[in-house]
Amino acid sequence: MNTSKRVVLFGRAAPRLYINEVAVRDGFQSEAGFVPTEDKIRLVNRLSRTGLAKIEVTSFVSPKAIPNLRDAEQVMRGIDRQPGVRYVALVPNERGSERALACGADEINLVMSIGESHNLANMRMTCEQSLAQFRRVMQVVRGSGMRVNGTVATAFGCPFDGDQPVCRLLWAVEQYLEMGMDSITLADTTGMAHPRQVSEVSRAFLDTFRGVEMTLHFHDTRGMGLANVIAGVAEGVAHFDASLGGIGGCPYAPGATGNICTEDLVHMLLSCGFETGVDLDALIDVAREMPAIVGHPVPGHVLQAGKRTELHARPVAA
Ligand code: COA
Ligand code: ZN
Repeated sequence: MNTSKRVVLFGRAAPRLYINEVAVRDGFQSEAGFVPTEDKIRLVNRLSRTGLAKIEVTSFVSPKAIPNLRDAEQVMRGIDRQPGVRYVALVPNERGSERALACGADEINLVMSIGESHNLANMRMTCEQSLAQFRRVMQVVRGSGMRVNGTVATAFGCPFDGDQPVCRLLWAVEQYLEMGMDSITLADTTGMAHPRQVSEVSRAFLDTFRGVEMTLHFHDTRGMGLANVIAGVAEGVAHFDASLGGIGGCPYAPGATGNICTEDLVHMLLSCGFETGVDLDALIDVAREMPAIVGHPVPGHVLQAGKRTELHARPVAA
C-alpha cells in the first residue's frame, strides 16, 4: 500500500520546494574549455543572492580526471558565503574529503553509480570499493560539523548496464544512511528517467526512508526532465538539482547532455503556484551571463523566449 505523503499538485496544499544549483560543478566540469576561476567565483556570488537553497560549487576530485575543476580550492575559498545557502563540493574519496574540510565546505556530496560499469568508468572503482571509500570519508569528517550528502548516480538507468532494480537502489541508500549520511540524492546521470519510473522510485524511497531529505537530479537528455520533476513533486519530493542555462553532463557517459535548466524549472514551478524562495528575475539576470562565460549558446528556453507573462505589442492591423 502506498502510504507516502502525496501532495495536492496544483492546490493550496503545495509544499515549499528547494532548488539546488549545480552549473558550476556539473556544468563546468564537462565544458570543452576551462572556465576562469574569477568567472566561477563571480557566478557563485551572484547565484548566492537569488534565493537558492544550495550551490554545488566544485569537485575535490583528481585534476587529471576533471581538469576543468582543478581550481577547486581557489573557488571554494574565494566565494562570499551568504547565510542560509549551503555550499557543497563533490568528493569521490578520502583525499577529496580532506580537501573539502580544509576549505570549510558546508557539505560534501559523495557519488557512486549503482551501474557498476558507469562507476568503473567514472570513479575507477567497483561499487564495493566506493562504499569502502565512503566509510573512510565518514571517519574523516566525523565531529567536524560538515554535512554529508550521498548521491546514487545512474539511479534511473546506467548507459552501459541498463535499468537498475529499485531494490538495488534502496540497498545503496540503506548503506549510505547506515554510514551516517545526512541526506540523499537520486541522480539520473544520463537522462534515462521517465515520469512513471520517477513516480515509482520516489514512492518506494519515501515509503522506505521516512523523513530523510531526498533530492532528485535530472538531466534533460531526452526531453523528459521537467516532466520528471512534476512526477517527483506529485509524490512529495521537495528538493531538486538544476543547472543555470541548462548546461552540464557527465564526461564519462556517451551522449550525455545538460541538467534541467534552473531558470526554466523555477519559471515552471512559479507558474504552477509553487513556492521556491528563488527570485526568478534575479536568476534570469544571472543566466544571461552564461553564454559569454562558456563561449556558446545555452539550451535554456526562458532565456530565449522570456517569461510567459512578458507579452509582446499587438501586431498593428494593415
Ligand atoms: N583530489 C586530488 N587528486 C586526487 C584525488 C582527489 N580527491 N584522488 C586521487 N587523486 C590523484 C592521485 O594523487 C593520483 O595523482 P598522481 O597520478 O599525480 O599520483 C591520481 O589522482 C590518480 O589517483 P588514484 O588513486 O590512482 O585514482 P584513479 O586514477 O583510480 O582515479 C578518482 C580515481 C576517483 C580519483 C578519479 O577517477 C576521479 O577523480 N574521478 C572523478 C570523476 C568525476 O568527477 N566525474 C563526474 C562527476 S560524477
Ligand atoms: Zn549530473
